[in-house]
Amino acid sequence: MSQLAILGGPKTRTEPYPEWPVWDQRDIDAVTEVVRSGRWGGYPYPGPKTAELARKFAEMQGGGYAVPMINGTVTMEVACRAVGIGWGDEVIVPAYTFQATASAPMAAGAIPVIVDVDPNTYCINPKAIEKAITSKTKAIIPVHLGSNMADMDAIMALAEKHNLIVIEDCAHAHGAKWNGQGAGTIGHFGSFSLQSSKTLTSGEGGILLCRTPELAAAAVSIIDCGRSHPGGGEERGSDFLMGANYRLSELQAALALVGVERFPAQAIQREEMAAYMDESLSEIPGVRVLKRDHRHTTRSFYRYIFAINPGEFGVEHDVLCAALDAEGVGCWVGYEAMHNYTLFQPQISSLAVPSAFPEYFEFDEMDLPEATRACEHEAVWLDEAVFRTGQKGVDDAVAAIKKIQENAKELAEAEQKLREQYGK
Ligand SMILES: Cc1ncc(COP(=O)(O)O)c(C=O)c1O
Repeated sequence: MSQLAILGGPKTRTEPYPEWPVWDQRDIDAVTEVVRSGRWGGYPYPGPKTAELARKFAEMQGGGYAVPMINGTVTMEVACRAVGIGWGDEVIVPAYTFQATASAPMAAGAIPVIVDVDPNTYCINPKAIEKAITSKTKAIIPVHLGSNMADMDAIMALAEKHNLIVIEDCAHAHGAKWNGQGAGTIGHFGSFSLQSSKTLTSGEGGILLCRTPELAAAAVSIIDCGRSHPGGGEERGSDFLMGANYRLSELQAALALVGVERFPAQAIQREEMAAYMDESLSEIPGVRVLKRDHRHTTRSFYRYIFAINPGEFGVEHDVLCAALDAEGVGCWVGYEAMHNYTLFQPQISSLAVPSAFPEYFEFDEMDLPEATRACEHEAVWLDEAVFRTGQKGVDDAVAAIKKIQENAKELAEAEQKLREQYGK
């Protein structure tokens, strides 16, 4: 049994996992073509590359009317605005997600109502949604987190019953399918990020999939400084709506188009290797592989998340992640629970929504045990790069986790020293 790398032993994997994003001559040619064309910006909207991206992305995802824009945060703000969700309306969001899922409805003036997640998937729990619905609730934003999808059957049933809008946050779910239907095409809107860490990227960027052409036209108006787009491009002179410039540039659309071309082969490899990882990890004591719902028919993910039992490893997930990193396997403890984000606390925030509705932001009183357990103790997020070097890459990651498990006692004994060293 060799010593852990974090305690001075040899690394399990010495060769680095591959970098992201990947690029080749196609990206250079695509950007060069735009540079030479002189049509760099997004005005008038949409430019030719942006229009092609909208068409191809909707085709790839299997439906909807796509509106490319500057990132995967404003996509959700624009979705709220497109259906008139605004000041004082309640929008239900999961406690385990990136802050954008809550800050986007807040930017539209709405109040994020934070509810707990399902421990099997770490996605929003439909039972918790149901409990949180009030007469002020206007929308639900389920997040398809890491490598899982939220229970879209239950969420859509609730939405129908209570007449709510569903905005799927698909920042992690490009290419994923639920019952054979593309993520982002099940709700009224699907919000995608093309930010540089995402599995389909143009450096920065976002795409909002809309269920109807009318919703798409409303979204286009909002992102094009309020210009009217009744027929998808016609201007209305000086009669502007309230909007802003959230247009995607043609340079970024060109990069995203190459990403769309590359995506299917990458998705197949990710899915195959993730299934292999599920199988291999399930043999390690103290590791809990998250449940893949049988209705989640195609998995395409951003990060692979699993849970540890800190009792079996002798340490919490943060120390395990530090040890795994030292073994040469990139990983992360994941997001903070939403109620720990100081950003939204009214006593230290001057944001309009928390200041006006402080009663919704009394985080100490929120009971979110599953998100808290995931965020503070058990979740481990493996980098997507682990799945891009075939079985060997997965085998190395599994070997490193096994090695940590076998050295749990030594790691636990060193915990205090490691925390001092890493400042935690
Ligand atoms: C779950 C989730 N939602 C939304 C976003 C926001 O995307 P963007 O960075 O493109 O604004 C991210 C990005 O990190 C995310 O992970």
